[in-house]
Amino acid sequence: MSEFKPGLEGVVAIQTEIAEPDKEGGALRYRGVDIEELVGKVPYEKVWGLLVDEELEPGMPDPETYEPKSLTGNAPSDLQAETARLSSEWALKKIVDTDEREVRDDLARLSAQMMSIVAQSAAVHDGRKAAPDEFVAQGDTAAEKFLLRWRGEADPDHVKAIDTYWICTAEHGLNASTFTARITASTGADCGAAMSAAVGALSGPLHGGAPARVLPMLDAVAESGDPAGYVKDLLDSKGRIMGFGHRIYRAEDPRSQILKRTAQEIGSPRLEVAEALEEAALAELHNRKPDYVIATNVEFYSAVLLDAADVPPYLTPAMFATARVAGWSAHILEEKRTGRLIRPSARYIGPGARSLSAV
Ligand code: ACO
Repeated sequence: MSEFKPGLEGVVAIQTEIAEPDKEGGALRYRGVDIEELVGKVPYEKVWGLLVDEELEPGMPDPETYEPKSLTGNAPSDLQAETARLSSEWALKKIVDTDEREVRDDLARLSAQMMSIVAQSAAVHDGRKAAPDEFVAQGDTAAEKFLLRWRGEADPDHVKAIDTYWICTAEHGLNASTFTARITASTGADCGAAMSAAVGALSGPLHGGAPARVLPMLDAVAESGDPAGYVKDLLDSKGRIMGFGHRIYRAEDPRSQILKRTAQEIGSPRLEVAEALEEAALAELHNRKPDYVIATNVEFYSAVLLDAADVPPYLTPAMFATARVAGWSAHILEEKRTGRLIRPSARYIGPGARSLSAV
């Protein structure tokens, strides 16, 4: 048996043609194209096409008219439950029982609908009714339509923020949620099951749940006016600074610069305090772990940018999921082509054979 690696760190579990971040973090490329070339030039729905079909056209479609059965206003759990429900509502075929074309089309329908579910759930949370399809159709891009459905209006700066955020976070190799999606797909389950499993994996604070915890940190620093003291206290109490550190990158996440730049362009009120906290956090983390590079990750300036677009912290894990539908779809399709069940091994370290009376 091969060597055991806690957290599977460094283990190569799949081969992919979609994207994989490099350790130095110089750039992030989708199917070879640097995301710097995409942001501001093609909207998210076409980036979906690049990732899934390796072509910009036709990209992700508009969502079909569909009313989710029971929205609570808690977007991450609404998204997970309603995506799973679509498997039966739409009678999706098991991946193992259908061809690549149908899997691709199921993923396109699901991706579009998942965006609509989050927008509708957010409207419920705000005590509003989501806008109908006829109204939403006025929007040009997926980001604009998302905001129109959720809020009934779409500020151009907010559209720009969300489109940029979605493109930057659309895909990132074999992260925890994508691995979850691929494992589920590898069993031959349907696409709704694979996508909803991925939503669950993404909701944790060590993965997509981090931005929700960044803003309270910024509030605390703004109140105390002492970023260095805040960071020291947090680390002394064995806390983690959200938005820093990454399993793969040992340098600043390339997405972080794009998100920060966009936050600057649209005039984020939190940028100053974020920069002060970032500077203090990087210095203190370096002091404490000089041999282990912990840099700013995508979540830190995602939180700042989403805040500038008036996206409340509770909604950020679901926003991340709406972005990642592209990456998950591309990987589920790639997994369909691979067709091999993912089933690693565990090394048993429990008690030896014994009788029930010994328990
Ligand atoms: N704050 C404080 N200490 C940290 C941080 C952090 N943000 N990140 C890592 N460390 C420390 C750990 O405490 C650990 O120290 P120890 O060896 O003394 O126990 C050491 O660095 C290594 O940490 P691991 O968790 O083993 O490193 P890993 O590569 O698995 O960590 C992770 C990656 C989980 C993202 C981590 O950096 C973290 O918890 N960051 C904060 C949460 C966060 O920002 N999550 C979003 C990640 S990006 C994404 O998923 C899209």
